[in-house]
Amino acid sequence: MGDIRNIVVLTGAGISAESGVPTFRGPDGLWEGHRVEDVATPEAYRRDPDLVLDFYDQRRAKLATVGPNPAHEALGRLDAQWQGELLIVTQNVDDLHERGGAERLLHMHGELKSAWCLACGERHPFDGKMAAYPACELCGVSGQVRPDIVWFGEMPYRMEEIDAAIATCDLFVSIGTSGAVYPAAGFVQSARYAGAETLELNLDPSEGSIFFNESRMGKAGDLVPEWVDGLLD
Ligand code: OAD
Repeated sequence: MGDIRNIVVLTGAGISAESGVPTFRGPDGLWEGHRVEDVATPEAYRRDPDLVLDFYDQRRAKLATVGPNPAHEALGRLDAQWQGELLIVTQNVDDLHERGGAERLLHMHGELKSAWCLACGERHPFDGKMAAYPACELCGVSGQVRPDIVWFGEMPYRMEEIDAAIATCDLFVSIGTSGAVYPAAGFVQSARYAGAETLELNLDPSEGSIFFNESRMGKAGDLVPEWVDGLLD
């Protein structure tokens, strides 16, 4: 690899798998027993808000029982020590990157621990049960608080910042993502277009594997610390 100063890291569910957070596209194609369309779309929320809110309540509650693994911690070390630009873009809605020490971090698909009030349009930190239809902490209106999660058919967050970071990166690294969901799945091609080196760290080849200069297959908990240690050496 040539001179590397600016790095963009994309992470997906695979980086949290060893922490005990299930991935989306498991062998049975179900997501904790639900079809994705039944819990992760605005239509599902309108049709059956109790089901959708309860689903995310359970996932939020689960965060208290899991912790960051060596892959999250390695990225936290990278963030603390890397002198050049770094942006960690996660598709994950858990908070394990933060708890692993990452700060130059952006949640493009939202966060379990954030609430979005449809009455006032504001977002605020949240750690309770939305199925209890709480009042918005900011405007006081009840029953209008939804998970601050990007559902299918909605726009991912902070795309301009992501595009700008990719356009100037020297290295793009994708970790633990199947490459099945756009726009994240297209980042590797944008990075190559910008002249960056591209590296994939994943358990299996992702759908976009052929676009990477290099693919390393294995568990994130092994591969990410190895890669970070090599870079910081
Ligand atoms: P997926 O479940 O689609 O893919 C997880 C990837 O991680 C797969 O390629 C696995 O092979 C890999 N993997 C599993 N265990 C691993 C391990 N221990 N180490 C390394 N890799 C491992 O999850 P995402 O690609 O994150 O969107 O899914 C993308 C989006 O689809 C999610 O953000 C979510 C979902 O619908 C929204 O909720 C908006």
